[in-house]
Amino acid sequence: MKTQVAIIGGGPSGMLLSLLLHREGIESVVLERRTKEHVLGRIRAGVLEQGLVGLLERVGCADRLHAEGYVHDGTLISYGDEMFRIDFVEHTGRPVIVYGQTEVTRDLYAAREAAGGPMVFEVEDVAINGADTDACHVTWRTPGGTARLDCDFVAGCDGFHGVSRRSIPAALRKDYEKVYPFGWLGVLSETRPVNDELIYANSPRGFALCSMRNERLSRYYIQCSLDDRAENWSDADFWEELKARIPAGQAATLETGPSIEKSIAPLRSFVTEPMRWGRLFLCGDAAHIVPPTGAKGLNTAASDVHYLHEALADHYATGSTAGIDGYSQKALRRVWKAERFSWWFSGLLHRYPDQSDFDLKMQIAELEFLRSSPAAQKALAENYVGLPY
Ligand code: APR
Ligand code: PHB
Repeated sequence: MKTQVAIIGGGPSGMLLSLLLHREGIESVVLERRTKEHVLGRIRAGVLEQGLVGLLERVGCADRLHAEGYVHDGTLISYGDEMFRIDFVEHTGRPVIVYGQTEVTRDLYAAREAAGGPMVFEVEDVAINGADTDACHVTWRTPGGTARLDCDFVAGCDGFHGVSRRSIPAALRKDYEKVYPFGWLGVLSETRPVNDELIYANSPRGFALCSMRNERLSRYYIQCSLDDRAENWSDADFWEELKARIPAGQAATLETGPSIEKSIAPLRSFVTEPMRWGRLFLCGDAAHIVPPTGAKGLNTAASDVHYLHEALADHYATGSTAGIDGYSQKALRRVWKAERFSWWFSGLLHRYPDQSDFDLKMQIAELEFLRSSPAAQKALAENYVGLPY
């Protein structure tokens, strides 16, 4: 087989890239390790920046998003029983849209299939060969032997545990990492969300987040220790702890119910540099990870995909290599700003095991400053709704 761009990974990054390239008449093949059903069964955050919404509109994947998504003009931040609102529209003129990432991926799959774009599922032992030569090709194991895809370029959209990042020689790559000393215990329940907007809660017992998927599907998180296990938490224990971390007025109206999903996710900040080696380009979680506090994972993958699509389209249209040569530096400039915001927002809201009494005073003082300062709120709002591409 031969194609112009081999895309490794059929998650949001790979699928969005395949559709953007298709619009430019650029051929691609998506190679996905799992089944489509497995990919579409993943539960993930869904706070969409306008930049991502614009890309989804461009590839004809925004109809359901606009019909079923929820426009959020702001968010709530609480500390103890105090609560205040950050008005995104007042400070930036833009809202965010709450629409499950699973639905985004479902829409991308529907569009790829409608376009007849080739996808290969359950590929095993994918290997990237000759990325630094003119004989670049991807191989993978099949029941009958080994398959080969010759390509001009490879887009590594295979997430944090994929093969792409590891295919860049370690001597040419530098990783930056921060592992947080806690995780998030998340629960999905078929209950009415406690509030129309998200509540990011700092409490003496730890962070909590009240989010939602629709009017009858709520998503809640509480900070937990790294050695905790989801099975250690009964639904009753979870609801009791969540109520203890949000303002009493909100806790009083919280509708509880059976969890339909309960899991713990670790938190990490991670970036690898560069995001390009020869004919291999990294996008999304393959290159960077953020703590979910700022909802920047999917949205930063989107800006990578935007930059790479633009670079490849320019190359195929003009023969210029300026775009592809500048991709890594351009993508990383926005990646690091998303890393900074996610790290800062996590530091503002979580309780850290090694925090001193002074540190706690600084955290509350920062929350009080944020509450009182339009300039501080504008800065948060600009990052949350999405910095420019
Ligand atoms: N070969 C082929 N596919 C692979 C391989 C491999 N060796 N390794 C991983 N994959 C697939 C995974 O099964 C997954 O479907 O690559 C895809 C990577 O998707 P994500 O992990 O979702 O990463 P990305 O598409 O960059 O999305 C970034 O969306 O999924 C969220 O948390 C993520 O918010 C972040 C954003
Ligand atoms: C979610 O709804 O899962 C969600 C929302 C916002 C975040 C993280 C997760 O910052």
